[in-house]
Amino acid sequence: MYRTHTCGELGLKDSGKEVTLCGWVQRSRDLGGMTFVDLRDRYGITQLVFNMETDKELCGQARKLGREFVVQAKGKVRERSNKNLKIPTGEIEIEVTELNIINRSELPPFTIEEETDGGEELRMKYRYLDLRRNSVKNNIILRHRVAQEVRKYMDSIGFIEIETPALIKSTPEGARDFVVPSRMQPGTFYALPQSPQTLKQLLMVAGFDKYFQLVKCFRDEDLRADRQPEFSQIDCEMSFVQRDDILDTFEGLAKYLFKQIKGVEFTEPFRRITYSEAMENYGSDKPDFRFGMKFQDLTTLVKGNGFQVFDGAEYIGGICAEGCSEYSRKQLDELTEFVKRPQIGAKGMVYLKCGTDGTLKSSADKFYSQEDLGKWAAAMDAKKGDLILILAGEKNKTLTALSELRLEMGNRLGLRKKNTFVPLWVVDFPLLEWDEEEKRFFAMHHPFTSPKPEDLHLMEKDPGKVRANAYDLVINGVEIGGGSVRIHDASVQQLMFKVLGFTEDEANAQFGFLLNAFKYGAPPHGGIAFGFDRWVAMFGGQDSIRDFIAFPKNNSGRDVMLDTPAQISEKQLNELQIKVDLKKQD
Ligand code: AMO
Repeated sequence: MYRTHTCGELGLKDSGKEVTLCGWVQRSRDLGGMTFVDLRDRYGITQLVFNMETDKELCGQARKLGREFVVQAKGKVRERSNKNLKIPTGEIEIEVTELNIINRSELPPFTIEEETDGGEELRMKYRYLDLRRNSVKNNIILRHRVAQEVRKYMDSIGFIEIETPALIKSTPEGARDFVVPSRMQPGTFYALPQSPQTLKQLLMVAGFDKYFQLVKCFRDEDLRADRQPEFSQIDCEMSFVQRDDILDTFEGLAKYLFKQIKGVEFTEPFRRITYSEAMENYGSDKPDFRFGMKFQDLTTLVKGNGFQVFDGAEYIGGICAEGCSEYSRKQLDELTEFVKRPQIGAKGMVYLKCGTDGTLKSSADKFYSQEDLGKWAAAMDAKKGDLILILAGEKNKTLTALSELRLEMGNRLGLRKKNTFVPLWVVDFPLLEWDEEEKRFFAMHHPFTSPKPEDLHLMEKDPGKVRANAYDLVINGVEIGGGSVRIHDASVQQLMFKVLGFTEDEANAQFGFLLNAFKYGAPPHGGIAFGFDRWVAMFGGQDSIRDFIAFPKNNSGRDVMLDTPAQISEKQLNELQIKVDLKKQD
């Protein structure tokens, strides 16, 4: 037997027991005649003690142990004189009588401690060492726990987990596909699923009625902190349901997970707002509701005083930051610089300080009287001591920039607390999005999303105005999940393809398998998919999903540990009958 106990379970109650532990050497310290070794495994750290006086040879052996050596230690549990109450095993130590080195380790390239000296790239290259660090290890265990709870809950409400294939067919809509060449049919390719969307709809046609799956999805798109080229979804679909049945079901899942994982109980239904409300009031389809700072449209109020910035603008909007009227010149300049960054794109920022003494001071006060400024403050519902920040310009761009400014102010004022969770449903997304480059409409969600029945008459007349029966679950400004009621009526589906610019033949070539299936009794259905990595990262209190994935890719989509993507051999290429002809990049 390698071990009788783990390094995380022994305590005072075990004093006097003879035990055998196995683990990695976290570190060792020589103090006079004693050597202390911290032995680590998945469960914790236990202190081993060696005494020069009682066993010189053994102690000498211990002094030669290097970091990360794998050892087996036998000995007796005893109470520690110098207790460490910060760790569960900190009241005891093991007085070692036998030590076996199971495996040596080279000096690790970074220290395997919470405060490590390893940079991101190095830790990714040696991810298996990084995973030994407590915080990263705990993230992976958290992921496991969330997965178990998801399965438990979904099973308890009658959902069946069904696996769908990973080698499927490339479709033109959505993000870019990762493709896999076929050896048996040279010149043809599979695609890795961006999601099992069409397959889960086929499962509804098959009568499975309540499906879910924890599933890998693949998208060849630009990466960010919350985006990986391969990520996991909790993918779900249901039959014989309307939108609210779906929202209620998955609100149940969300509430259950929050209770089990975070101990947070939501007694009220989640708030629901429409996409257009979200955009008008927060400039984002995923507003962070941990704080207010709702936009106020000032366009008509402030125009017409000869101030060119406002007079020439399509939209002028403001936010009110409570208690910030004392912001210094430097702080205001920083905010102006912030909104002028190219990725935010505002031309400048106008402020109005509502002083605690009742004075009103604005960067545009050359053009406006105190009375005018008083009207702004009233429109913004500002109190003495508040600071109003105003952006102006083309409407959509200004809304987006104001949204960034709102989030920045939320950060500065500490209003985006990690352990406060405010979920909401954003509903009634537009069905279609106009693509200026391709001069055609694209489905905002996917081509199987149902239009709202009351907007069907606009499908051909004014497609941009049609709202979809689609929804997102947004928590703390993060899109945790999205879904829709699907089209199950062949004529509506045909209309949708027509508006998307597909001929009947093109639609059949791309989606024939689904359209065919719909000829054989498709039930009304709908569903949702949650970003599993995002949800786990949120539970873990972090923005980046990377540390919640055992072996993630970096921002260029590389796995630096496996050193991939990589070239393949000439032999493999020959088998696939593929010739690589890299075009020169200018
Ligand atoms: P959607 O594309 O909105 O919907 O994806 C669902 C959720 O998956 C997460 N997500 C990602 N997470 C990490 N990295 C990525 N690259 C990434 N892309 C998306 C988000 C998102 O809300 N088939 C539909 C769902 C449906 O209609 O049922 C779909 O995939 O949290």
